[in-house]
Amino acid sequence: MTAIKGQIAAYRRSGETGIHSLDHFALVVPDIEKARTFYAAFGLETRPTRKQIELRVARNAHCWGLVAEGARKKLHYVSFGAFEDDMQKFRERLKVLGVETVQPPKGYESNGIWFHDPDGLLLEIRAAEKTSPFAKTAFECPSAGPNERGALPRKQTRQAQPVRFSHMAIYARDVGRSAEFYARTLGLRISDRAADVIAFCHGIHGSDHHLIAFVKSDGPGLHHSSWDMGSIGGIGLGAMQMAASGHERGWGLGRHVLGSNYFHYVRDPWGSFAEYTADMDYVPFDRDWSAGVHDAEDSFYLWANAPPEDFARNYEIE
Ligand SMILES: [Fe+2]
Repeated sequence: MTAIKGQIAAYRRSGETGIHSLDHFALVVPDIEKARTFYAAFGLETRPTRKQIELRVARNAHCWGLVAEGARKKLHYVSFGAFEDDMQKFRERLKVLGVETVQPPKGYESNGIWFHDPDGLLLEIRAAEKTSPFAKTAFECPSAGPNERGALPRKQTRQAQPVRFSHMAIYARDVGRSAEFYARTLGLRISDRAADVIAFCHGIHGSDHHLIAFVKSDGPGLHHSSWDMGSIGGIGLGAMQMAASGHERGWGLGRHVLGSNYFHYVRDPWGSFAEYTADMDYVPFDRDWSAGVHDAEDSFYLWANAPPEDFARNYEIE
């Protein structure tokens, strides 16, 4: 335990208050069994509880997502993890900023601080273990040696499973305003922006290039959740298993410019996406990222086929 505490102290930006992780997200959907089937096919563990399902990856006990049943699909809330000794500082900061705190939603146990973002989305800051990576996540690109086979027959491949949750992208009316709000309240840093259509933010205690991104829309909603596969091979196999399960709609394979990650997006039954990702840029706790404002066309993707026409359509506000 002392060793773990020492490791956390060593990998923490000192003298500044900011969340360290995107702890989990909560969705409401009209058909919970449909959601369970979708995420199970995606390669996640879907554990049913009395009221909802919990989303995990096979190699980690942390619950990254909650899906409950409700009248229509909606991003319910986003929860961020903070070091316990920072919690009081967050309370004081929100007070100084004039951000009103609210009660947790009924039925959700919480030690956290709850408030709304500028679009009315419910947010939580909770004391939690750091689940964003302490260093850049491994990226494998194995190559067979001479006289060796590099690829297995398809029958011998196992289900592709994410190694961890990476990030999410949510809709916002004004992406600059949202990025500034999340920076002031949560202590996030803006990594990059593309015109007024998307902004990416990272954590100050070591995180991927973005643990949350804002996509321009006329209201709040989920654009995508993203799950690290650790390799391009894993992304390809994931895309194949989703197509075989009836989920061939999406976008990929491709590579983004901002974040540099490889991607394949799979459309969920309600018009948001679950993204397979790998090899995203990483911002260490002791370095400052050189943020930029980019041309949208030039920075959306380095290579891919054309995205679907409704890629940035927010079905939650229709
Ligand atoms: Fe993404």
